[in-house]
Amino acid sequence: MKTAAMGGVGETYDYRVVRQFSLMTVVWGIVGMLVGVIIAAQLVWPELNFGEWFHFGRLRPLHTNAVIFAFGGCALMATSFFVVQRTCHTRLFAPWLAGFVFWGWQTVIVLAAITLPLGYTQGKEYAELEWPIDILITLVWVSYAIVFFGTIVKRKTPHIYVANWFYGAFILAVAMLHLVNSAAIPADFMKSYSAYAGVQDAMIQWWYGHNAVGFFLTAGFLGMMYYFVPKQAERPVYSYRLSVVHFWALIFTYMWAGPHHLHYTALPDWTQSLGMVFSLILLAPSWGGMINGIMTLSGAWHKLRTDPILKFLITSLSFYGMSTFEGPMMSIKTVNALSHYTDWTIGHVHSGALGWVAMISIGSIYYLIPRLFGQEKMYSVPAISIHFWMSTLGVVLYIAAMWIAGVMQGLMWRAINDDGTLTYTFVESVKATYPFWFIRFLGGALFLAGMFVMAWNVWKTIAGQKPYNAPVIAPAAAHA
Ligand code: HEM
Ligand code: HEM
Repeated sequence: MKTAAMGGVGETYDYRVVRQFSLMTVVWGIVGMLVGVIIAAQLVWPELNFGEWFHFGRLRPLHTNAVIFAFGGCALMATSFFVVQRTCHTRLFAPWLAGFVFWGWQTVIVLAAITLPLGYTQGKEYAELEWPIDILITLVWVSYAIVFFGTIVKRKTPHIYVANWFYGAFILAVAMLHLVNSAAIPADFMKSYSAYAGVQDAMIQWWYGHNAVGFFLTAGFLGMMYYFVPKQAERPVYSYRLSVVHFWALIFTYMWAGPHHLHYTALPDWTQSLGMVFSLILLAPSWGGMINGIMTLSGAWHKLRTDPILKFLITSLSFYGMSTFEGPMMSIKTVNALSHYTDWTIGHVHSGALGWVAMISIGSIYYLIPRLFGQEKMYSVPAISIHFWMSTLGVVLYIAAMWIAGVMQGLMWRAINDDGTLTYTFVESVKATYPFWFIRFLGGALFLAGMFVMAWNVWKTIAGQKPYNAPVIAPAAAHA
């Protein structure tokens, strides 16, 4: 990498913002997951709900915002700014604006961490932040888009590598989702009312919510998959043609599946059925993408035995496959009648969020860190292996406990006696769930402990090292 032909005299890639976002991915990962472990503990030991600022209702949105937008967002921005430069063989467009994206995004996160515990919220899941913060998000996001697409425009390669298609779709879709769903009428500085009412409001919210899953928690991470899996496996993508079909099919289908969050509500029945059908169709492109990622390892399967970074990347794809099989099943109305409101949904969420999103991010950050500081590899490869097993065991404990708890809750709630009365009171189902919440707490704590191992390893890798910016490679000289 260091000896490759130069694209211009002394020209190097702009890794500064990549370094900043990569390090903050680890920091926010720890913070977000720590809050996750705290709220998991609060469900087991309710006496841990202290005062109004530190109870479950306030900390839960803090957890979701911290893990999705702070941890996931920083991972996406770090990797997209790296990948777009490497695959376009050019420096970042407007690096000073990229600096604004970094500081602006960190400001959004800090504001979220202050306002959510204080109770300022729009009450829309994953879009809780109040209108002044929403405006800052818009400014940061538009700047992000300018830097990313500006770099694509000044690329030195004729084609645009598929990872950039996924990152680009993620950036455009999230911009649109944010603008439409956050439309609100301010009542005062920290209070606003949605521009929509009733069932339209619900539909817009879950069009947003589902596509936040599809574009924030999936498309951008698929961009990661298409770059880091081939790089780490040192193999070309299994099928470039499949990646193009995967892209268009996924992008088109995701947009229509939102109503599966509103089964058996006031939403017109045909809309619910439409959402269900599109969710079932979504299985195909999701698995097409997963297979494309996993099959990239063809001829290099043996590397899985020794390379813990590859283990993170490939295991994340297995969880992606699992959660995108489970999702379509849960979207079937009769299945949803059982799963909705139960911990089954929480299990599904975390097989996607921890198994897929967190694990592919962790693998990609392990790939990046040494390269951003002029090192060959991480300080301790065995520590990556330990981290891998802690994460995998942590996710499995978490989701297995939630599946059992969820199905149990669903069955207890619908059980009726011969005379038509309910067999169980609600509180009986809560009591029956305690052991599973405890197992989830243990699984989460294990996953979090793995993040501390990562932080130690990252610290040891970069301590005393100078930031390193690799020379820009001329397109003919090498692949990205
Ligand atoms: C140590 C790791 C984690 C733990 C212990 C944890 C724990 C929790 C808990 C206890 C809840 C609330 C469940 C409920 O209301 O019954 C929750 C919700 C949620 N978490 Fe996590 N979490 C972790 C990591 C993550 C990560 C990495 C992500 C995303 C990338 C994530 C995304 C979410 C989402 C989206 C919800 C809301 C789910 C819903 O409303 O259906 N979590 N988490
Ligand atoms: C083919 C892909 C997928 C489909 C069709 C799908 C479908 C579903 C369904 C039916 C629900 C339950 C809705 C309810 O009963 O309220 C759900 C919830 C959820 N899914 Fe998925 N899912 C998919 C993939 C994923 C992935 C990969 C992730 C994470 C990375 C994810 C994250 C979530 C979240 C966060 C929720 C909870 C939303 C909430 O109520 O707060 N899903 N999904």
